[in-house]
Amino acid sequence: MSEEGPIEQRFSVEWRFPVHFSDGIFDVANPLLASLATGSPSRAMVFVDGNVARANADLIRSIFEYFATHGAKFLLVAPPVLVEGGERVKDGLANVEDFARRMLEAHLDRQAYAIIVGGGAVLDAVGLAAALVHRGLRVIRVPTTVLAQNDAGVGVKNGVNDRGSKNALGTFAPPFAVLNDFSFLRTLPDPHWRSGIAEAWKVAIIRDAEFFEFLCEHAGKLWNRDEPAMRRLVRRCAELHLEHIRENGDPFEMGSARPLDFGHWSAHKLERNSVFRIPHGEAVAAGVLLDSLYASLAGSFAVRDALRTAEGLRRCGFVFPIEEMQRRDPAGRLLILEGLADFQEHLGGELTVTLPDGLGRRMEVHALDERLIEAALARLAELAC
Ligand SMILES: NC(=O)c1ccc[n+]([C@@H]2O[C@H](COP(=O)([O-])OP(=O)(O)OC[C@H]3O[C@@H](n4cnc5c(N)ncnc54)[C@H](O)[C@@H]3O)[C@@H](O)[C@H]2O)c1
Ligand SMILES: [Zn+2]
Repeated sequence: MSEEGPIEQRFSVEWRFPVHFSDGIFDVANPLLASLATGSPSRAMVFVDGNVARANADLIRSIFEYFATHGAKFLLVAPPVLVEGGERVKDGLANVEDFARRMLEAHLDRQAYAIIVGGGAVLDAVGLAAALVHRGLRVIRVPTTVLAQNDAGVGVKNGVNDRGSKNALGTFAPPFAVLNDFSFLRTLPDPHWRSGIAEAWKVAIIRDAEFFEFLCEHAGKLWNRDEPAMRRLVRRCAELHLEHIRENGDPFEMGSARPLDFGHWSAHKLERNSVFRIPHGEAVAAGVLLDSLYASLAGSFAVRDALRTAEGLRRCGFVFPIEEMQRRDPAGRLLILEGLADFQEHLGGELTVTLPDGLGRRMEVHALDERLIEAALARLAELAC
């Protein structure tokens, strides 16, 4: 029997969670949420994005009523906690600590549920707290923005910003379930309605040519807040996102590639340089278009499809922040180029940028040609006029 050499530890854990699509999940007549409880009853606490509560005057009352009616399934251990909505809730760990403290004070254990109702920022911050308490509570996400329903809320991560760095602190923590309730989207301000549309273009270009056609065809309707078109967009985009996480072989992003961040290296930089004045969706629309034009100049994406992307995004209501994109340092170098280094640093390893390789397909490159970025940006500026 050898007593030298390492013992190799090896095991795998299967993750599964449902993503439901519903309307009015806190209507007492809707059994969906109650059907998820496994205890008799299960302890639960609800965190609600303050802006969602403000825009839906009856929400808190409905939540109380729902839990009173379904008391055999869920025991609401504290009144719903209102949480500041938007990116500020992700400013460092202070809020996370506060949420974690409330969860501990309410004696949530590992079989208990943190139900989080809100935009991607609230899901991220409260989700991080729930992942830390007892090393992980059961999280039911109820995303209330287009972006959260088709992207942020259906993934496996949480996180907050720190020292100016986006999502610098966070964990991989798949949820127990996701409940996409379309009725919440009705109260979204226009810029947030659009935000998630940019992610749909992103994923269509690199994964689904047919979905790209759908977006081109329905761009005007989407801008006009057409509900059937938006329902299809949310569902298909969420499906592609989930499929990607399931099938890409790297759900917890151990490698240096992050295909779902197509178009995001410049987008993140634009958001930060504008101190978040440019909303994520607008930054992503610009970043996706920039990289599509780059790919068309580099020969991996048809010029026609890059032009259709520009036209489609414009018809969805996106305005490209050209001035911000063209800002340069004193040496004349584009400021957005720093986004490439940030992007690499976040993941570690070799720089890996995803670009379209024909419509609906993708490829990874490990360097971008600055002259081509300049040319793509010049093209983008012409198209934006
Ligand atoms: N964890 C992930 O995998 C992941 C992926 C992508 C993005 N994100 C994160 O998601 C965040 C962006 O999320 P977002 O686009 O949902 O923005 P957001 O959470 O900032 O929400 C946008 C605004 O709308 C308000 N709001 C939310 N729902 C509303 C509703 N139904 N009616 C009225 N107002 C409402 C919010 O309070 C906020 O002011 C970013 O912090 C980003 O880093 C996370
Ligand atoms: Zn994004």
